[in-house]
This record gives sequence, C-alpha cells and structure tokens, in this order.
Amino acid sequence: MQSGKIAPSILSADFLHLEKDLIAAKQGGADLLHIDLMDGVFVPNLSFGPAIMQDVHRTVDLPLDAHLMVACPEDYLKPVLQAGASLINVHVESTKHIYRLIQEIKVQGVQAGIVLNPGTSFYSVVDLLPLVDNVLVMTVNPGFGGQEFIPAMTGKIKQFADFRREEGLTYRLEVDGGINEQTIVSCRQAGADIFVAGSYVFGHDLAQRIGSLKKAVQ
Ligand code: DX5
Ligand code: ZN
Repeated sequence: MQSGKIAPSILSADFLHLEKDLIAAKQGGADLLHIDLMDGVFVPNLSFGPAIMQDVHRTVDLPLDAHLMVACPEDYLKPVLQAGASLINVHVESTKHIYRLIQEIKVQGVQAGIVLNPGTSFYSVVDLLPLVDNVLVMTVNPGFGGQEFIPAMTGKIKQFADFRREEGLTYRLEVDGGINEQTIVSCRQAGADIFVAGSYVFGHDLAQRIGSLKKAVQ
C-alpha cells in the first residue's frame, strides 16, 4: 500500500496572507492543494472563483485538486481547466449528465473525479467507477470548513475500496471533511488514499499538522 497523500484545503487558509500559507503548505509536505469552489446555490456558502485558483497555480508548484460545489458544473469546466486544475471533482448530485461530464473532463487530458454527498450511496455511482480517476467521499455535508466528521461514512469508503480491489480498478479514494489526527486513521483503515484537511492544518503550525497526518497514513 502506497503512503497516503495530504491535500490541504485552502478554504481555511488566511486569505489576507494566502501566499504565505501556500508556501508553508508546500514546505510542510502537502502533496496537492484542495480547491473548494462554491456558488451559493449548490451549497449554502460562497468561497472563491477560478481567478483565485489561477493565482494559487502561479504561486505554488503543487497539483490542484478542484472540488466543484456548484449547480452547473458544465459552466465551470473551461475556467477551472484554464486555472490549472490537475484533477476536477464533480458532485454526482449536481448534474443530470455526470457520465457525459466525466468523459468531457477526460478528453481535456486532466483527471476526473466524482464526489458523493453523505446521503448519496455507493450503489448510485457503480456504473461510473470504471471511468473515473478519483472518488471523493464527503465525510461532512459540503459547504463549510470546521465541521464534525460523520463516522458512518467509513462504511461507504470501504465499499469503494472493496469494489476497486474486486474489480481490479485503479481510481483513487479521497475523503473530505472533519479530517484530523484521529479520523484520518479510520479513513485509512477503510481504504482511503488522499486526505483533505482544512481547519486541522491552516491556522496552526502547518508543517507540524501536515506531518502528523502524514505519519498516521504512511
Ligand atoms: C467542505 C469542503 C472541505 C473543507 C474541509 O465543503 O469541501 O474541503 O474545506 O474543511 P475541514 O477539514 O475543516 O472539515
Ligand atoms: Zn472540498
């Protein structure tokens, strides 16, 4: 088993000192940066748009993991590609044509991922799994940083990990929401590979916090 990867979510960064936080995350051992785009419609919150994402891209040399929490993800595909995404994750609840959108992302030469809200089941996305590069399991309701991890989600992570093994598939399994030194352990045991962490790392000693998460999943 490969070491787990840590993806700090810049939603919890200090936006008045974003450059400083980005550099500290990179120096502290971040493997990728998680970029939460929200439109105030799909989720009851606003974050930032592709312009900020592009600034992040030119400031720090890390792969950008885009998490689209928007009502019309098709409209954001081009701007998010131009902003330098390496991986684009789309909520299956956000579009009528998730299969088509995943195909369109892949044609652009970047990785494509699906995201599941806590109330969305493994069974509803089985047909997409041979196509995707990434599955992102939400372990909180999307929209805000700093929420409490939902322990029942580890069962869903395990379903994806078991299916991947049984079917010989290669998608990565990412978790997002309420990740800290303790919750990361149960997600790792269930089979996750990429761990998003926002409020646990930003606003603290980034190198120390990222280091403690990495140690838990090495
Ligand atoms: C929530 C976002 C998360 C958020 C995680 O909707 O998708 O990426 O930043 O924040 P924490 O780690 O604080 O739960
Ligand atoms: Zn996210």
